[in-house]
Amino acid sequence: MKTLIINGSPKGKKGNTEIFIQNFIKDIKEEVVIKRIIEEDNEVLANLIKDFDSIIIALPLYVHGMPGCLMRFIEHLNREITNNKSIGFILQYGFPEGFQGEYIERYFESLAEELNMKFLGTLVKPEAAAIYTMPSFLTKKLFNKLKEFGRVYEESSCFDKQIINDLKKPYKIVGLKLKLVRLIKKIGLMDIFWNKFLRNNNAFDKRFDRPFSAE
Ligand SMILES: Cc1cc2nc3c(=O)[nH]c(=O)nc-3n(C[C@H](O)[C@H](O)[C@H](O)COP(=O)(O)O)c2cc1C
Repeated sequence: MKTLIINGSPKGKKGNTEIFIQNFIKDIKEEVVIKRIIEEDNEVLANLIKDFDSIIIALPLYVHGMPGCLMRFIEHLNREITNNKSIGFILQYGFPEGFQGEYIERYFESLAEELNMKFLGTLVKPEAAAIYTMPSFLTKKLFNKLKEFGRVYEESSCFDKQIINDLKKPYKIVGLKLKLVRLIKKIGLMDIFWNKFLRNNNAFDKRFDRPFSAE
């Protein structure tokens, strides 16, 4: 089974998506080819798919959707290239709940149908934005799961449903945890983190700007 992994993040090698890919392939013994959207010509990359049996697209969620660079690439796909091949997705993002990925998951499923491909599924990992800064004791469990996910994929050519279920948690924050999140939001604790980013990028004074507003 020849697999092409496509990194759909505009941050390429430097992003969290790449960290997910590197852990996914860690125990895979077959040759896998990794291409990063940001380093490739879309037309050439789309045609490269013809040489593979299976495509895995790994991506971050950007503004509730896929990054624009990945969307542009997907517009280069057609059945002549993709017929009867397999496709799966690895999606990671900052929101803390698994259900937030479901809108795009539904799109991926219909995309596979549209391209006449076998849909392997979508691995969804919420709360992943800080992965690149985390010490190894905090990422160990996740990285081991990703490795296992890769191992099962190599053995079975399928995405493991149990691992998908495990990593999607928490699906929705409810009860006491939700109350705590609301409290943290109310007292402004969450803003400390984001305001630091805004200040570092000289954007703090512009944080309420509405550049696309018609007013
Ligand atoms: C422009 C931009 C938009 C984002 N939008 C969302 C979003 O709508 N929901 C979310 O959960 N995370 C969002 N994030 C967070 C990313 O999904 C998260 O940081 C991810 O790990 C980035 O992966 P990357 O480093 O490979 O690009 C956004 C990040 C950026 C830079």
